[in-house]
Amino acid sequence: MTERNPDAGQLEEEPLIGGGVAQGIVRVGDTVRRPVRPFTATIQAYLAHLHASGFSHAPVPLGVDEQGREVLSFVPGDVPREPLPPETAREEVLVELAHLIRRLHAAAHGWAPPPDAVFGEIPGARNTNSTADGQPLLVSHRDYCPGNVVFRDGLPAALIDFDLAKPTTRVDDLANALYYWVPLLHPLERAPAFTDLDVPRRVALSADAYGMTETQRRVLVPAAARMIHRFHVNMRSAAEVDPVFRRIWDQEAAHRLPRAGSWINDEGPAITARLAS
Ligand SMILES: Nc1ncnc2c1ncn2[C@@H]1O[C@H](COP(=O)(O)OP(=O)(O)O)[C@@H](O)[C@H]1O
Ligand SMILES: [Mg+2]
Repeated sequence: MTERNPDAGQLEEEPLIGGGVAQGIVRVGDTVRRPVRPFTATIQAYLAHLHASGFSHAPVPLGVDEQGREVLSFVPGDVPREPLPPETAREEVLVELAHLIRRLHAAAHGWAPPPDAVFGEIPGARNTNSTADGQPLLVSHRDYCPGNVVFRDGLPAALIDFDLAKPTTRVDDLANALYYWVPLLHPLERAPAFTDLDVPRRVALSADAYGMTETQRRVLVPAAARMIHRFHVNMRSAAEVDPVFRRIWDQEAAHRLPRAGSWINDEGPAITARLAS
């Protein structure tokens, strides 16, 4: 990482609050400062590769500041919070997000992590397997929760917070985005504007917008079901070791994830049928 001095001392520091998972994130002018973590150098190298490959919808990595914090460009726009507001339920949002992820995958393809690469996981994670059997790996975002998608003019325009980026498959990565934005949740667990939506239609629209292959369409629902199971196992472990995850578990994950698991078992066949037609 390069050393830079973007005059942090002369500009006000504005705290940025997201999921509350990473502490100590501040905005300084048109940069963001975050604590350096074991995976920071790897992720900065990955972000540099994305930009060099023409994907500019992500923070620009700017090295480390004089206080030893990671420096990234501030990405302008609006970041929605949960519960997702009604305007984010529009189908155009799914289409644009799928286009964004398609472009991310195109840029990420061909980036081989260095031998000393370090990737992040949620604390105490026990199950870190990628799930779509036999699909090729690439490093991708893996955490398209509302706080990590920047909107402009009502549509997804950029991705931030690559803390969980690591080798995955295109299908697993898409399943994560669909979990949050279709969403792949029991209706009781969705934001009000999402309760009555046609889930198979929304998944199929996303698949078309991404340009999913026949194989990817066939393995998507099983991959999503395994991802939900993995979320369940890992969130429960994280809650045992980390107070932030304890709060997330108690407030929502403890009921949301088992419900999502049985919901995808019930609704999965209809989604897969729609994807094949
Ligand atoms: N590079 C960035 N550009 C614009 N906003 C950012 C950037 N990084 C973080 N933020 C804002 O700060 C919030 C929290 O940052 P994030 O990196 O997502 O941490 P966490 O989700 O771990 O709390 C984000 O939801 C977003 O609103
Ligand atoms: Mg975040």
